[in-house]
Amino acid sequence: MSLPQPKPGILSIEKYVVGKSKAGTKKIIKLSSNENAFGPSPLAIKALSECAGRLNRYPDSGASELRKAIAEVYKLDADRIICGAGSDELIGLLVHAYAGEGDEVLYSQHGFLMYKIYTQGAGATPVAAAEKNLTADVDALLAKVTPKTRLLFLANPNSPTGSYLSGAELKRLRSGLRKDIILVVDGAYAEYADKVDYSSGNELVDATHNTVMLRTFSKIYGLSALRLGWGYFPEGIADVLNRIRGPFNVSAIAQAAGAAAVRDTEYTAYVRAETNKWRGWVTQELQSTGIHVPPSLGNFILAGFPGGKKTAAAANQFLTERGIITREMGEYGLPDCLRITIGIEEENRALAAALKEFMAQ
Ligand SMILES: Cc1ncc(COP(=O)(O)O)c(C=O)c1O
Repeated sequence: MSLPQPKPGILSIEKYVVGKSKAGTKKIIKLSSNENAFGPSPLAIKALSECAGRLNRYPDSGASELRKAIAEVYKLDADRIICGAGSDELIGLLVHAYAGEGDEVLYSQHGFLMYKIYTQGAGATPVAAAEKNLTADVDALLAKVTPKTRLLFLANPNSPTGSYLSGAELKRLRSGLRKDIILVVDGAYAEYADKVDYSSGNELVDATHNTVMLRTFSKIYGLSALRLGWGYFPEGIADVLNRIRGPFNVSAIAQAAGAAAVRDTEYTAYVRAETNKWRGWVTQELQSTGIHVPPSLGNFILAGFPGGKKTAAAANQFLTERGIITREMGEYGLPDCLRITIGIEEENRALAAALKEFMAQ
């Protein structure tokens, strides 16, 4: 008798490689997963500790308080917000609900790897469109649309490149897509974006029946460990996802901490200002050593190494020996690059000093 076999395609999935957390040294500087080095709002920590006495109870299935808080702060319709165990879960639910064998899911060349993994898991076919200057290219994306296309995922700003599409380009992308194709604008880093022509896509969600915006509490809100994300959906798509999600997919602790975090807008503004200030500083420091750093709208930068003896792999090794962990980019098709999260001041200074030493040796 043969052993149980997964559905076709599952065994060809290359597992997602998470950012490393160890470097074999006592003290490490972890700049590998685009976490918020400043930590969450103290009000979020207080709110989650108050949940300790109620752990025997299931959470609110509808995450009402959390959705209400998000709706107030972002000025959205709470009925069309759905929360998930990280935005990862919402990406998975969307693919699961709308794509299967014979369907195609589109994303840009250096897009978030989970788009491809969830697509393969659903038995659908992942399709990547080439980027221009490390930026999603609307025309290249539209050229890849076929009658089989069901969803298009676009991280805006994108990780690992840090690049973005303007609100006008997003609109052009939406208008060029058939009505039955869902455009998913993944704004995991939206709160850090500081360009006037940037749009996280919420107006498109309100204006169409086929655009979705995803957001996360793992980045600016500093709650990666809790696994909490949310999305803003047209009514029809929200209804579909609410039918297939687990009834208790978001823990009570995550709901309480998330609501407190999102309401603490002063703290969010502080994290954004500090991160963006240090992002500018790190960019300049690295550029002054000959490392190529394209502009980034996220809480990270992409460092491109010139080659010869100055490769990304050699830099990674050099940094690891000094307890500084960054993210290698081979699986994103960017083997000459490292993605480096912006840390707190001493971490950023240690990173810049180490890379200066590496480039000078
Ligand atoms: C572009 C993008 N989307 C989504 C996610 C998933 O975030 P989470 O599942 O932690 O909400 C990440 C995480 O790094 C990301 O970079």
